[in-house]
Amino acid sequence: MKLWGGRFTRELAGDAATFLNSLPFDARLYRQDIKGSIAHARMLGRQGIITTDETETLVSGLNEILEEIESGKLCPEEGVEEDIHSFIEARLVEKVGDAGKKLHTARSRNDQVATDFRLYLKEESCDLRDKLLLLISALMERAEKSKDLIMPGYTHLQRAQPVTFAHHLLAYCEMLRRDYGRLEDCLGRMDLSPLGAGALAGTTFPVDREFAAQELGFRGICSNTLDAVSDRDYAAEFLFALSLIMMHLSRFCEELILWSSSEFKFVEMDDAYTTGSSIMPQKKNPDMAELIRGRTGRVYGHLVSLLTILKGLPLAYNKDLQEDKEAVFDAADTVKGCVSMMVPLVSTLQVNRKRMRQAAGGDFTNATDLADYLVRRGVPFRDAHGIVGQVVLRCIEEQKCLEELPLEEYKEFSPKFAPDLYEFIDISACVARRSVPGGPAPDAVDQALEALHDWLGKRRRKRRDGSLASRQHCQH
Ligand code: ARG
Repeated sequence: MKLWGGRFTRELAGDAATFLNSLPFDARLYRQDIKGSIAHARMLGRQGIITTDETETLVSGLNEILEEIESGKLCPEEGVEEDIHSFIEARLVEKVGDAGKKLHTARSRNDQVATDFRLYLKEESCDLRDKLLLLISALMERAEKSKDLIMPGYTHLQRAQPVTFAHHLLAYCEMLRRDYGRLEDCLGRMDLSPLGAGALAGTTFPVDREFAAQELGFRGICSNTLDAVSDRDYAAEFLFALSLIMMHLSRFCEELILWSSSEFKFVEMDDAYTTGSSIMPQKKNPDMAELIRGRTGRVYGHLVSLLTILKGLPLAYNKDLQEDKEAVFDAADTVKGCVSMMVPLVSTLQVNRKRMRQAAGGDFTNATDLADYLVRRGVPFRDAHGIVGQVVLRCIEEQKCLEELPLEEYKEFSPKFAPDLYEFIDISACVARRSVPGGPAPDAVDQALEALHDWLGKRRRKRRDGSLASRQHCQH
């Protein structure tokens, strides 16, 4: 039975019903839908719009449906209704009779679906943030062990200046920390209840929107009923936050892939997280990292798809909005899977310390330090840059590194060069001197790690308290 059959003289065509059916994918909102309906029923009862008995009947009917679905007795995906909202309502009427028909008083599927979707996204956001914390601590653990591991830092993929592997890993921690913050910010904006907005223009019943919002654990209510039912910017924002997470993971994966090539040989991924070739017996392929890089495209696609769905929609609800769900569901599943897969990729990674150290010493990565040496002896930096450029050219001609050029030859370029230059341009010394806050020196890395530990501790405490509070509210 359709929720809206009264005005029609003919049944919806079978192919049209299949065409508009969202139950196969929005069935996953059953928990949020039931939660939303329970809050709505309680509010109706509290306001005297339905009786206390009716409220109790509705709430226990809805809880039974929840149990039936969770225990596998009832499968929403197999329902004949057009969406999860119709499915649950139909089951409720079947179960409790006439009282069930009162649930939809002062409500529309438009504010209902908007509520379900926000509740769902709130939970997904928490889940994803927990996963980000796990990845950040896996990176920190690796960083802790690689404070003295020197590697080349690159610009233009050309060896530039030496850094530490720890410093490189901490760069990703910072990106992920911002990603975490972006999810928090986005959550703050989406944490408002659309319930009570009705189809578009609110309701004539004396509803208590604040009460329903509180029951559901929202921090407040949407301020405008038209906006409440047609807004999906929180979902677009969520998809953008997810896209940036993927962009960060993808850059890291690209590095892991490059570094595991024979050309680099900086790292080797664990056998448990690599694959072989069906024809080339020697191959060890970084499939997991490649898939994470590849799935980035998929998540970007969902963001562009939602923005495009929204761009031409007149207010308020339009059926186009139903297309928001698959995009968001798939993006959330994909990103959670990728973030989780990164954790063992990072913690099982084998690092070739010798190769990294060797590479850091090649290609004149200490040339800037040699220029700095002259600056400390009173040569203006621009002149020092020119002098060291000529020294490098000489070294290239003589196939030497800076440490191998004799002092007499250095003197040809500047009288300021003295025997202590060799100590000064030693690669480890070059790294150790870069102890500016946020720099690669072991000291600076220690400080960065300390700050990260603080941050992580605070988030974990906040998450623990937050999930206790929300469990009291809506048992998730
Ligand atoms: N399945 C619909 C969606 O996801 C629910 C809202 C239906 N509202 C309507 N007026 N047809 O958007």
